This record gives sequence, C-alpha cells and structure tokens, in this order.
Amino acid sequence: MTQKITAHDVNVFYGEKQAIRQVSIDIDQEDVTAFIGPSGCGKSTFLRTLNRMNDTVASARVEGDIRLDGEDIYSKDMDVVQLRARVGMVFQKPNPFPKSIYENVAYGPRIHGLASGKSEMDAIVEQSLTRAGLWAEVKDRLSDSGTALSGGQQQRLCIARAIAVDPEVILMDEPCSALDPIATARIEELIHDLRGRYAIVIVTHNMQQAARVSQKTAFFHLGELVEYGDTNDIFTNPREPRTTDYITGRYG
Ligand SMILES: Nc1ncnc2c1ncn2[C@@H]1O[C@H](COP(=O)(O)OP(=O)(O)OP(=O)(O)O)[C@@H](O)[C@H]1O
Ligand SMILES: [Mg+2]
Repeated sequence: MTQKITAHDVNVFYGEKQAIRQVSIDIDQEDVTAFIGPSGCGKSTFLRTLNRMNDTVASARVEGDIRLDGEDIYSKDMDVVQLRARVGMVFQKPNPFPKSIYENVAYGPRIHGLASGKSEMDAIVEQSLTRAGLWAEVKDRLSDSGTALSGGQQQRLCIARAIAVDPEVILMDEPCSALDPIATARIEELIHDLRGRYAIVIVTHNMQQAARVSQKTAFFHLGELVEYGDTNDIFTNPREPRTTDYITGRYG
C-alpha cells in the first residue's frame, strides 16, 4: 500500500479549546478511508487539516506534521491554492457556484491554466462530468445553472468540479447527508468507481455507508483517534470498548 498522506501528532486548537489531540494516521492511495465518530468529535476539523481548509478559520491553529507524498503541506513554501487543487473537497451541502453547469466544472481548470483552448476545456468538462456520473443527465443542458439541478445532481456536479483540476485526493465531508436514499446510492457507486484513481477520505455518520464504501475506517472520539484499521475489523471485531459502544449505537 502506498501512503498518500501521513499525519503525525496532529493537534488542532480553536483559540484555547483543543479539538484534535495527538492524531497520527496514514491515508492509503488505493483505499477509501472513512472517518466516523459522534458529533463534535473532530472529524471535520481533522479532515480540513488535510488541505489546510482550517487556514480560513481565524481562531484555528494546527500543530504537527502532515505530508502529501512526503511533502510537508504546512511548510512555508507550500502553495495553498495548488494544495487545494491536489487535495479537493466536497462538502455536506452541495454548493455549486451560481453559474452554468459548464462553468462550474471549467472554473478550476481555467484558474489553474489546465486547458489551452476551448476544445481542450470542453474535453475536461466532459471527462469530469462523465467520471462524476453526471454527463448523460446534463450533456444537453450545459448552459443551465448548476443551482437548477436536483440535490443529488448538484453533489455530483461538485464532485465533477473537484475532479476537473486533476486532484490526487478527494475529501468528502458527509457528502450524502442532504440526499435521499437513491441519490445517496449513486454517490456511493461513484465513490466505488473513483477508488484507485484518487485517494478518498469520507466523513460519514452512517455506519452502513462506512461499511459499504470504505476499506479503512478511523473512529474518532473527543478529538482523539481511538481506533484505525481495516473497515471489516472495525465493524466486526473492534479492539477498543469505545469503538464497540459507538458502532453498536450506545452513543453518538
Ligand atoms: N470554527 C470553529 N470555531 C470554534 N470551534 C469549532 C469550530 N469548528 C468546530 N469547532 C469545535 O471543534 C470540535 C470539533 O468539531 P467538528 O466540527 O470537527 O466535529 P465533527 O466530528 O465534524 O462533528 P459533526 O459530526 O457534528 O459534523 C467541536 O467541539 C466544535 O464545537
Ligand atoms: Mg463535521
């Protein structure tokens, strides 16, 4: 297994309050990794350390060592805009730009200069929408507003937008929590299809979803990484009593 991201002794503070405590974890290139744990345990906070999204929170302070392919992402030399293209993010609530479907996908590649002309851009847009499982549904309405799509389609558009800049890692923070079961199933299929091409980390409150989509699971509790391992082991044979309590629904 190739380690795409390695995190060592990570602490995150919001002002005086510590939200993440001494978390160390390696994220595999080939796997989907699920972050689970009760509300407020720090899943989103830790996820955001992986592409420096916490930089946008004034009170947040990150300590520790986080590397992408061995490169220190908190180094002064790290270009954060570039980093966030390499480590893309999909949020809980689909958040397409108030622009056309085409422009939602073309925006990132344009900023990053990935296409040299219209036909190259067209190809990137088509490929990204195809990989996101949305092309067939939108190919005849690319100039419609992204916000006019259904919730599930909007979320796939956001995934297409992340894919369009050719990322290495995709972080998803509860990407299905605003979606109905059918739209959720489509996103889960998509995650399955994207596995291997991108390292994927998904935060979910849905145990069945974690079991279905991931190969590795990390259980967080009160800011600590309690247990991390093969998803199968975490769900069938957890080592820590706190993990057992959580997955059997005793709290959370
Ligand atoms: N911007 C912020 N400012 C101050 N405290 C924050 C901020 N964001 C999160 N926190 C605090 O950090 C802790 C971890 O929050 P976080 O959002 O990472 O948890 P979570 O596991 O993602 O929860 P949920 O499952 O509800 O999304 C919580 O105590 C939360 O109140
Ligand atoms: Mg969260």
